[in-house]
Parts: sequence; C-alpha cells; structure tokens
Amino acid sequence: MNKNVRTKIANLVPYKVSTTNYRWTLNANESPANLFDVWQEEILAELKKESINLYPSANSDELREMLAKINNCSADNIVCGNGSDEIIKMITEVYVDQGDKVIIPTPTFSEYFTSVTVAGGEIVPIESKADFTFDIDAIIDSANQNQAKLIFLCVPNNPTGCAMSQQDIDRIILGTESIIAIDEAYFEFYGKTSAPIALKNQRIIVMRTLSKAFGVAGIRLGYAIAQPETIDLIQRVRMPYNISALTQAVARVAVKNSEQIQQLTQWMIEERNRMIDELSTLNLEIIESHTNFILYRSEKFEKLVNAFESERIGVRIYPLNPMLKNCIRISLGTKEANDAVIAVFKEVVNNV
Ligand SMILES: Cc1ncc(COP(=O)(O)O)c(C=O)c1O
Repeated sequence: MNKNVRTKIANLVPYKVSTTNYRWTLNANESPANLFDVWQEEILAELKKESINLYPSANSDELREMLAKINNCSADNIVCGNGSDEIIKMITEVYVDQGDKVIIPTPTFSEYFTSVTVAGGEIVPIESKADFTFDIDAIIDSANQNQAKLIFLCVPNNPTGCAMSQQDIDRIILGTESIIAIDEAYFEFYGKTSAPIALKNQRIIVMRTLSKAFGVAGIRLGYAIAQPETIDLIQRVRMPYNISALTQAVARVAVKNSEQIQQLTQWMIEERNRMIDELSTLNLEIIESHTNFILYRSEKFEKLVNAFESERIGVRIYPLNPMLKNCIRISLGTKEANDAVIAVFKEVVNNV
C-alpha cells in the first residue's frame, strides 16, 4: 500500500456484492417488481423533458417538489442524494470531525460505519439485546458520556427488521443533545415515520430511499427530510449536479405512481405474513419484521445456506458478526421466489 494512503482508509474493506447469477436474488432487499415495462411511456416522456447535453437541475427542483408533496412538507425540507448512501455520507460530513464520537446501535446497516470511519470519527457501537431490540438506556447514556455528535438510528432496522417504538425514539431525542439521523429506508413497509418530528426539530434528520418499496434501486435516489436550516447545511457538502438527469426523470415517474407502489407494498406485506404463517410451525426462529425482508436464525444454518446455494437463491449471511451467528436474511421476492424459500426451509428444518 502506498505510504500516502490514510491509515483509516487502508484498513477499510470495500463493499462486496455477490456477482453470482442467482435464479432469485434475495440478498439486497430490492423490489421483485421491475416496473419499467409498465412505466416506459411515462419514463420516455419525462426523459424528453431533459436536455442531456446540459447539466441537470442542480438541486433536483421538480423532483423535490414532488417528494415534498407526498411527505406533506415543502421542497425546502428536502435534499436528494445518489442513493441514501450519499445522504448518510453527507450527514456525516456535516457533523463529524476527526475524533468525534458517533453512536451506532448494532447490528445495523454497514454504511454508517464506513462513512464515519472515512470522516475520521470514532464509532461507539451499542449492542442491541439478544432479541435484537435496542438498548435505549445504553444509547442515551453513551451519547451523553461521549458527547456524541451524531446518532444513527435505523427504523426499521437492517438486517434485523426490528423497529424502535416512537416512545423510545422520543426518549432518545429528549435524553440527548446529539444530531439524530433516522434511516427510514424501509418506511413504506412499516408505515410509521419520524418525519413530522424532523420538520419541527433541528436535531432530527429522516432519510428515505426509492431503492426499496419504490422499486428503482437501479437509478440511485435517496433523500433527507429536515428543517430548512439543516437541509442548508447538507447542501454545503453536496456535489453540484449529484443527481443525473436520467435519475431525476425516472424518479419523477416513480413518485408520480406512488399509489401503485402502495398497492405493491401492501401485497408484499401480505406475502411477509404468508411466509411467517407457513414457516411458524418449523423449528426456526423468525425475527419479527417490519420490512421487505425477514431475518431467520437456525441451528441448521450450514445446511440451509448450502440448500439455498444449490437452489440458486441468493440470501445474505454475516460470517464476521457474532451477534448474527446462524442468521440468514432473505428479501421478499415474487410469489414463486417466496414459495421456493418456503420449500427450502421445509425441506431442511424439522417441525417443532
Ligand atoms: C437501512 C438502509 N439504509 C440505506 C440503504 C441504502 O439505500 P440506497 O439504495 O438508497 O443507497 C440501505 C440499502 O440496503 C439500507 O438497508
């Protein structure tokens, strides 16, 4: 490694994505529905409005207006990112300096760790309880003891699917002085949001994405909801023209069709319930999910992983995280894909 590389970067591991050609890819919590065919005329019409020889709307103005409308706020309350990954990075850049402490309840989404490390901040991990519920007292105490600049809360949480109650979120808000970034990537599958609080409280930022329920992970569009003063801070670190004209055009179509997305989301919630019903008689721990994925824990972990592999079903495991020993996270897919997952579990895991 070249001697000029920052030590913190030298120690990072690049985000690895499986390149296996699965029959069903259920390892990234994407939507099973590719709505391109349904939307292609609308997408073409929106694309024609763009001049691709020119830079796009620098601040995604029309899209922000549309996002504001579905969130009952004003465009000044919204900033767009290249995926919510970029929102996480920008929030960290605004608040975290060399050596600053950041509270991250674990296990959770890996990008919080990466962005804090890159910024030179120090992560204070707070282990969740054995049943994956959050340790609220420990989060509050540790934020205060460390004078934490920032707390990341993932609600509902990836990879557990657990949600933190509004009462617990309120306790953390009232009990600390840190900035609280609430990642609501899976909001549509849960239905509860802290957005109204973010609109009133300068310390709260809500993050959302079009990659999950909206089914357009491929275009990379995330956004933050916060008070205009907070949005203005994020605007200071945002790259000019961070959202391409193509992404803005497709995102406008997706947001325009949010009623269709609501129906699809409802169907996925029903599929989630069906899977839990089908699997509940097996000797298998199913973690309660408020998302488009389910985390399972089984003593037959190795056999299950091999069976999913041989059925060419892509699932997510966590070999480096002791808290997630024997755990497999599987996204909800098409009915056919979900049936294939059920069949593997029934084949490998015995009834209670
Ligand atoms: C909790 C959480 N936040 C953010 C993201 C990243 O989403 P995006 O595609 O908008 O970058 C993911 C993706 O899996 C996620 O699970």
